[in-house]
Amino acid sequence: MRRIGVLTSGGDAPGMNAAVMAVAKAARYYGMSLIGIKRGYNGTLCHSRNIEDDMVELDLDTILDIADLPGTYLRTARCLDFLKPEMRMHAANNIREMGIEGIVVIGGDGSYQGARSLCELGIPCVGIPGTIDNDLAYTENTLGFDTAVNSCMEDVRAIRATSRSHDRPGVAEVMGRHCGDIALRTCASTGAEICIVPEVPWSIQEVADRLCRLIDNGNPRATVVVAEGAWDAMHPFDWQHFLTERGVKHVYPDTTINSEYLALILKHKCSAEVRATVLGYTQRGRHPSAYDSWFAFEAGNLAVNLLRNGIGNQVIGIKDGRVFYMPITMALQQKREFDLALYNLVNSL
Ligand code: F6P
Repeated sequence: MRRIGVLTSGGDAPGMNAAVMAVAKAARYYGMSLIGIKRGYNGTLCHSRNIEDDMVELDLDTILDIADLPGTYLRTARCLDFLKPEMRMHAANNIREMGIEGIVVIGGDGSYQGARSLCELGIPCVGIPGTIDNDLAYTENTLGFDTAVNSCMEDVRAIRATSRSHDRPGVAEVMGRHCGDIALRTCASTGAEICIVPEVPWSIQEVADRLCRLIDNGNPRATVVVAEGAWDAMHPFDWQHFLTERGVKHVYPDTTINSEYLALILKHKCSAEVRATVLGYTQRGRHPSAYDSWFAFEAGNLAVNLLRNGIGNQVIGIKDGRVFYMPITMALQQKREFDLALYNLVNSL
């Protein structure tokens, strides 16, 4: 191959720039030119007024300048148009017209589905699992997960310091979509006492009982870490009625529960000043950790080598600490296994 493309898609993840840098270095080494495709799959549709806003020749020197920065230089997006077969066909034609013979796709499972479609249309793609969520079953770690956990660990430690100063329990909400791995690892690495995840059904009463017990046993600053996707796994509880009866304002029947409301419920159930913090984008906009930077480096290099050897339709992952690759379809078929043993340990010790 003489020319390849690279794109980042879905939510940005720490390490995406580092992976693009690794791709750029390997492409230069093997004498291939590299096209950066902007804003995920949107760039392949070439809808912008200027082509540079969709696809741009990547110069290694420019890339070296941004490799250490958080976020993604190529920009990213979730491209709904790409769900339409006629749009994917249009994209494949644009890619061919640009002389791009293969693409490195850095993103999560939605991005992988886009890559698989492009492969079916004759454009070889190799995926690098760029997402903080760690929700891809075939790999031990996704790119960005380690950094996100480090970020949450730092933030939860800060929350616990203030909780300790005031003898107040805290609720910290972390990301992860339908995956509880960020919450679980954050608890394990900070000593947070209660972990709530989407994978395990839970009830507010059970959480309140545990928190009240911790407070009664001399730990008035315990921390609850809740994964953003865990609300769907909550046993039904008329929490709006519970809060309204206690004089809490602006709680309407169609309001959905969140960590602020959970903190209020726990405050009333345990008679304690419980405070909630939503960690949000602090988890995504970080400099990649050493682990993520290493993974990005190896994955970027392997992706270029696969394309160079005509091996498309693959995704890269980590198994037993080593970088490997496997077919996209096979990777997407694997079922995630939640680490129930660690979850039980965190919640019982
Ligand atoms: O997939 C990464 C992620 O941060 C999820 O954890 C979260 O649910 C989602 O993206 C948030 O997306 P947005 O970029 O739309 O805020």
